[in-house]
Amino acid sequence: MKGVILAGGLGTRLYPLTKITNKHLLPVYSKPMIYYPIEALVNAGITDIMIITGGASAGDFIRLLENGEEFGLKRLHYAYQKGEGGIAAALALARSFVDHDKVCVVLGDNILERCIRKGVQAFEKQAGGAKVFLKEVPNPQSYGIAEIEGGRIAQIVEKPKSPKSNLAVIGVYMYGPEVFDIIPTLKPSARGELEITDVNNHFVRAGSMTYEVIQGWWADAGESIDSWIEANQLIAQHGANHPD
Ligand code: DAU
Repeated sequence: MKGVILAGGLGTRLYPLTKITNKHLLPVYSKPMIYYPIEALVNAGITDIMIITGGASAGDFIRLLENGEEFGLKRLHYAYQKGEGGIAAALALARSFVDHDKVCVVLGDNILERCIRKGVQAFEKQAGGAKVFLKEVPNPQSYGIAEIEGGRIAQIVEKPKSPKSNLAVIGVYMYGPEVFDIIPTLKPSARGELEITDVNNHFVRAGSMTYEVIQGWWADAGESIDSWIEANQLIAQHGANHPD
């Protein structure tokens, strides 16, 4: 399976920290934010990794990460996203890199306490389709929220005003290569982006979406200044990316 980390976007919710640099280069406890999703993939056994970023700080990722030697990698792949067309638009740039393989996509601002290896291994055995990870949250209005019926995801709603559950779809998604045929069929959302939730609902409707509720804490360090501070504190207290 290939790994793709999305590290573009404007990071406006962390402004002015993001005025002169990319959100994913900001420190979170002892490391730049982008280190955590790389470690999450490497700990799960995924070593063929592409980082997709954009904007004026894109070159800083290469200076910081070089060829990934610090993570035990021989090389890293990079792609440049022009503009901020959304998570699904960024993922589309990885099409030739992923090719006919499966892909694990990690949002560059998502940090987990525990390793995702078991979920990755389960998806290796799944016949294509998609798999997402869910986590109970106190503020479901801020995330993609999964509605569960009869042990399956019935629908995912992006940032619902009246959430029907508190199960957030976290920013780690696994797809078969058919995901790259779905993205070109999407239309921009009200916020002008190609939404990963629309991609996920495509798999839900096709009956090929599975899920797991994760153990341990999860942080979207880019959601707000408070969530960024909380991510720092969680790592200080409990550490991150613990092997299983
Ligand atoms: O963190 C989990 C949530 O992430 C999910 O629950 C939501 O369903 C999903 O839409 C997403 O919500 P956000 O509003 O938090 O996404 P955000 O705009 O912060 O983008 C998430 C990451 O994707 C961020 O680390 C940067 C990257 N990104 C984003 C955009 C819009 C790109 O690489 N390119 C882009 O154009």
